[in-house]
Amino acid sequence: MPGGTKVYAYTLDSENGVVVEVLNLGGTIMKVLVDDKDGNPVDVVLGRACFEEYLNNISYFGATIGRNAGRIKDGELKIDDKVFNLSINRDNDCLHGGFVGFDKKVWDVVEEKDSLVMSCFSPNGEEGFPGNLEVTLKYTLTKDNSLRIEYSAKSDADTACNITNHSYFNLSGHESGDIFEQILYMNTDKYIPGGRVEDTAPVDDTPFDFRTEKPFGRDMYADHPEIQRTDGFDHHFVINGDGYRLAARAKSLKTGIGMEVYTNQPIIVLYTANGLDEGMRKGDIEYKPYGAFCLETQAYPTMDKEIAYPNIILRKGEEYSHIVEYKFI
Ligand code: GAL
Repeated sequence: MPGGTKVYAYTLDSENGVVVEVLNLGGTIMKVLVDDKDGNPVDVVLGRACFEEYLNNISYFGATIGRNAGRIKDGELKIDDKVFNLSINRDNDCLHGGFVGFDKKVWDVVEEKDSLVMSCFSPNGEEGFPGNLEVTLKYTLTKDNSLRIEYSAKSDADTACNITNHSYFNLSGHESGDIFEQILYMNTDKYIPGGRVEDTAPVDDTPFDFRTEKPFGRDMYADHPEIQRTDGFDHHFVINGDGYRLAARAKSLKTGIGMEVYTNQPIIVLYTANGLDEGMRKGDIEYKPYGAFCLETQAYPTMDKEIAYPNIILRKGEEYSHIVEYKFI
């Protein structure tokens, strides 16, 4: 790193057809190799060409996002009757934790045996967030080809904590072009229109209905105000049910690679790389918009309303605990 801190890459191998590479800069997933139907490894995540490029990972490829995934409107974090002014780094909002989010931190590796465990510290006031926050991130690749990510955190003051992983998946391979023919199912009856609005809306009779699996391309350019507003999908969906459950399943008929997403979180964000920044690549081919999809599990994007599910507020001394599993099938 500029300044001399060393950064390392780690390889996790399921010995059953999946290999994952992780960088402790941002806890970033750089590569996920999955065997296709003919037994050939396919890299199913987008990334950057070399380590130096991850220093400016503006699309957040594979990165850990925190303290807060998504946007906080006008950078105003409201906790009870207090307002904390956060860094405003995208339009008029605080996006993905501000200028120096968890994606830009060098995480300390504390264990590298059965799991890869890293920790980071976010001091009181960082990017405007209150409270000293201690965060742990654990990657486990199981023998049945599940990449399990566990986040835990604790703060010495009330704060916001809503962490996620920002991998861009393309199950036909990271250089294969658009995802239009890949198929998505989501266990979600409701989504959140308007991006920053707190009300949910039913997916019935809208392009947001993935309860019966359909190709990403079918409604990518649909004549629906919410699709037009974000040039594709960039929305929060409310996962049906409680506890640890299936949130989504995607697959590529071309490679035969499928992926299931399980989580204990209430929300999954579907982002179809609508605004993918130009010039990005890790191989020979430059990525283009709609060349990947992100399925980011997280909390409700609200703190003004009393809700039954975890939202972005983490109270002093309480434990934040988030599990997500990307299972390759
Ligand atoms: C997504 C977000 C998009 C965009 C992207 C990063 O999580 O929903 O609107 O900001 O991250 O480029």
